[in-house]
Amino acid sequence: MQHPILLIGGNSGIGAALADRLRAQGANILSAHRSGEPAFDATAEEPDFPDVDGPLGGLVYLPGSINLKPFKSLKPADFDADFKINVLGAVRTLQHYESALKEADNTSVLLFSTVAVATGMPFHTSVAAAKGAVEGLVRSLAAEWAPTVRVNAIAPSLTDTPLAARLLRNDKQREAGNERHPLQRIGQPEDIANLGAFLMDPANGWITGQVWNADGGLGALRV
Ligand SMILES: NC(=O)c1ccc[n+]([C@@H]2O[C@H](COP(=O)([O-])OP(=O)(O)OC[C@H]3O[C@@H](n4cnc5c(N)ncnc54)[C@H](OP(=O)(O)O)[C@@H]3O)[C@@H](O)[C@H]2O)c1
Repeated sequence: MQHPILLIGGNSGIGAALADRLRAQGANILSAHRSGEPAFDATAEEPDFPDVDGPLGGLVYLPGSINLKPFKSLKPADFDADFKINVLGAVRTLQHYESALKEADNTSVLLFSTVAVATGMPFHTSVAAAKGAVEGLVRSLAAEWAPTVRVNAIAPSLTDTPLAARLLRNDKQREAGNERHPLQRIGQPEDIANLGAFLMDPANGWITGQVWNADGGLGALRV
């Protein structure tokens, strides 16, 4: 029997594409997000977690940030906000659903990092620090929750979603974004969703504790 998969942030960008992909494969998708009905804020002190009735087959945590500023203009509050949404929100969510996840076999958890953790980029100190913590969380939790729950992350480069809209405001920015990638284009939500669906699939149940780059070659190639 297939248990439902909970997507925190399944209404937009990568999450919406992943929800479509998983539904097309027959998965039962539950989604909670900030602008949902009822609204769910993963950064609240005590988030109002949606009830799930029984075991969960998987959980994907999508809330994240792209707060790019020179290091000297970043305030402690910026680091705090990035840590809250990227790390603490995921931690609280995973703690809340731990038993529901462990009730099923071969369950998969998916978190999101960024290409800017493994590849240093200017103006990324705050988000890279937070996403670096996500990568540490993924490996530690994968060890702690093995063999019941698999835990992986995807580290995307620039992907055309509402979160990245400020970096893709006009043709010039889009062209520059395309050219920066060895594969000569920025990512589409489906590029990331396809990899996400692979990692959520119980058929790929021997993969855990990994951070997967989906970045048009940006992190690994010089062409
Ligand atoms: N897009 C990129 O270029 C890029 C690059 C590297 C890494 N990433 C990572 O990929 C992940 C997905 O990003 P995306 O581009 O698909 O973003 P997106 O389009 O902004 O979608 C984010 C989703 O998370 C929800 N969300 C945000 N804050 C929340 C909160 N406090 N509580 C509950 N739900 C919340 C949003 O809900 P509402 O719509 O209701 O606010 C939305 O459904 C993020 O972790 C991001 O850091 C993205």
